[in-house]
Amino acid sequence: MTGGTTTTNNNLLLLLYLSVLITTLFAVVSNAAFNLSTITFDDGYTPLFADFNIKKSDDGRAANLHLNKYAGSGFISSQYYDYGFFSSKIKLPGDYTAGVVVAFYTSNGDVWEKTHDELDIEFLGNLKGKPWRFQTNMYGNGSTSRGREERYRLWFDPTKDFHQYSILWTRKNIIFYVDNVPIREIVRNEAMGSDYPSKPMSLYATIWDASSWATAGGKYKVKYEFEPFVSEFTDFVLDGCPVDPIEQVAGTTSASDCTAKKDEIENKDYSQITPGGQKAMKWFREKYMYYSYCYDTVRYPVPPPECVIVASEQEKFKETGRLKFGSIPKRQRRRKGRGRRQSNNVVVKELQANM
Ligand SMILES: *[C@@H]1O[C@H](CO)[C@@H](O)[C@H](O)[C@H]1NC(C)=O
Repeated sequence: MTGGTTTTNNNLLLLLYLSVLITTLFAVVSNAAFNLSTITFDDGYTPLFADFNIKKSDDGRAANLHLNKYAGSGFISSQYYDYGFFSSKIKLPGDYTAGVVVAFYTSNGDVWEKTHDELDIEFLGNLKGKPWRFQTNMYGNGSTSRGREERYRLWFDPTKDFHQYSILWTRKNIIFYVDNVPIREIVRNEAMGSDYPSKPMSLYATIWDASSWATAGGKYKVKYEFEPFVSEFTDFVLDGCPVDPIEQVAGTTSASDCTAKKDEIENKDYSQITPGGQKAMKWFREKYMYYSYCYDTVRYPVPPPECVIVASEQEKFKETGRLKFGSIPKRQRRRKGRGRRQSNNVVVKELQANM
């Protein structure tokens, strides 16, 4: 996609460069992102733990979560939602962050300890200078023995700027987004049964010490000489039907209360992946996904029922669900140049423009 050219004609190259530049400029203008309305922290959230490590901005539209030697920190939505779209712009801590995990996820584990549902985006800290990695996951009705992890890298450095991360959860599908690029879709089918999350969930954002597993399987721990580790959140979006989870599931509130809202969400632009969005998702998954449970036949000889086996993805993975040529190609890992990263940005902007 970065396309080497063999022509030595400088004029041609210049023309090509200009046309890419112009396409990119138009791409940015015409890339009508989802029409989202953002809320303040207090409109939608409340501290979850270690209030002293949560720093809200003066206008209440942003909040920083700190991790220091005393504690991590986290916030939670004040309401439970019966399906919805959950989103925030996030800027991750930079430099040495091994052992640090920043999580943005939905769950109802506080209400249903044994039969909880969960949808995760988890950023896994790293050694200074290494690219951040992250994973997505899903649990339904306590299916904790059936992890559905996928792991990826990003096409940008998430510690330099804010980027938008979103979780869509409807009765029909689940989509994880990074900057409006769909990176994973789970389409509900009957065979999944209650492994598909279906009870009201709240949104959580946390930063915590996961020294035991986060970085190289726990090899690198959090180093508190680099504290505080700060993850910044802004542009909060919570769109869903707020409910009392117990009443909702017990059927004591009228189920129709939420039907209109569920229908509304299912008809939003972010609930359908356009052909252009499919193309962008394919691009992302082929280039940045380095583990998928769907290709891990050691763990799941029969892939779980929601898995869609894509030949172009599958051929990159071993039967452990890991990439055939090491988890991350060394050449890319070591590459310092801005060139590759910038050309990936051009590619992704073009893809976004056609979504
Ligand atoms: C969820 O799991 C519990 C306990 O195993 C079970 O009783 C219940 O029927 C399950 N719920 C659904 C919707 O299948």
